[in-house]
Amino acid sequence: MTGWVRSVRPQKDNLFLHVNDGSSLQPLQVVASSHLNTRCYSLHSGNGYVQIHTPVITSNDCEGAGELFQVEPAGHKNDSDDPNPHFFSVPAYLTVSGQLHLEVMAGAFSAVYTFGPTFRAENSQSRRHLAEFYMVEAEIAFTESLDDLMKVMEDLFKAATEHVLSSCAEDVELFHKYIAPGHRDQVDLMLKRKFNVISYTEAIDILKSSSQNFTFSTEWGCDLQTEHEKFLVKHCGNVPVFVINYPYELKPFYARDNQDQPNHTAAAVDLLVPGVGELCGGSLREERLELLSQRLAQAGLEDTYAWYLQLREFGSVPHGGFGMGFERYLQCILGLHNIKDVIPFARFSHSCLL
Ligand code: 4AD
Ligand code: MG
Repeated sequence: MTGWVRSVRPQKDNLFLHVNDGSSLQPLQVVASSHLNTRCYSLHSGNGYVQIHTPVITSNDCEGAGELFQVEPAGHKNDSDDPNPHFFSVPAYLTVSGQLHLEVMAGAFSAVYTFGPTFRAENSQSRRHLAEFYMVEAEIAFTESLDDLMKVMEDLFKAATEHVLSSCAEDVELFHKYIAPGHRDQVDLMLKRKFNVISYTEAIDILKSSSQNFTFSTEWGCDLQTEHEKFLVKHCGNVPVFVINYPYELKPFYARDNQDQPNHTAAAVDLLVPGVGELCGGSLREERLELLSQRLAQAGLEDTYAWYLQLREFGSVPHGGFGMGFERYLQCILGLHNIKDVIPFARFSHSCLL
């Protein structure tokens, strides 16, 4: 049971606490002995997620990868003499992820999610990248381990898939009969089996000891490429696999530092699935003010993310979340090779028809 203590009224023998987890305006009143250590503790009731409409236009680059579409009025000219050249006074972009806004809201409602369009200026024509795609993202306060996060991810995948199979049986059957024969067995296998969990370091060991010649490096510290992800899923019997604890330097500033050595890692997780590779990306978030401000300072981002630091400065709780690409999810359960076939109006580099 987790939540925030909103007020404490100390009396001689008892403490009267108002506790709230964001699910109701009414606080829960708790009477506790005044001998209790007053560092707060928490309650949580129910497991309902609150849907948040995170903004499409933002001044943040959540993933820090610079893959942003800038937003200005049509005909806007970058006039260096204009002291205030931006419509929003600051450079603004189409969102790459609603995560940072969800983190704000998870600080009030405990468990939140968003499901909206997401934009990446990746110059990629690959079969699993779009410039505009939908992402379902969840953020959960009081999450202290990747195990807890992975349980939510696996449950979401399985519950959503069961629902699609039962409520859209005919449509799914069409795909499994004509487009991807035999794929239903693959889907049933994913539903039946518990997902695998391996560390990034184990993944690298598996890749290195394989006889396959990979195009991209398999040295510790290198990002996993599609060819590596495909190999790992096959190695795990075509059952989805969580890869956890990635090199610290590979992950964005918000990922929680595991403070380990000699291999320095962050508490991040990717879910790899058959046919697609990476379906979800998530992490525990760095809630420790000192570590976060050091990391942002190193990247020269302390001022940009002053508000994000303030979330930690005025009290934060361990929390974490993840995002699942909706079109990749459809690819995975329908057995479609190309992401452009699961979206009616595909946007990718050099193509924006209609
Ligand atoms: O791994 P990503 O970049 O993670 C995030 O954006 C986190 N901030 C999410 C979070 O923790 N709230 O993206 C999440 C997922 C990927 O695993 C992939 O399925 C999908 O979004 N994705 C794309 N899908 C289609 N086209 C692209 N260009 C995509 N980039 C990411
Ligand atoms: Mg990712």
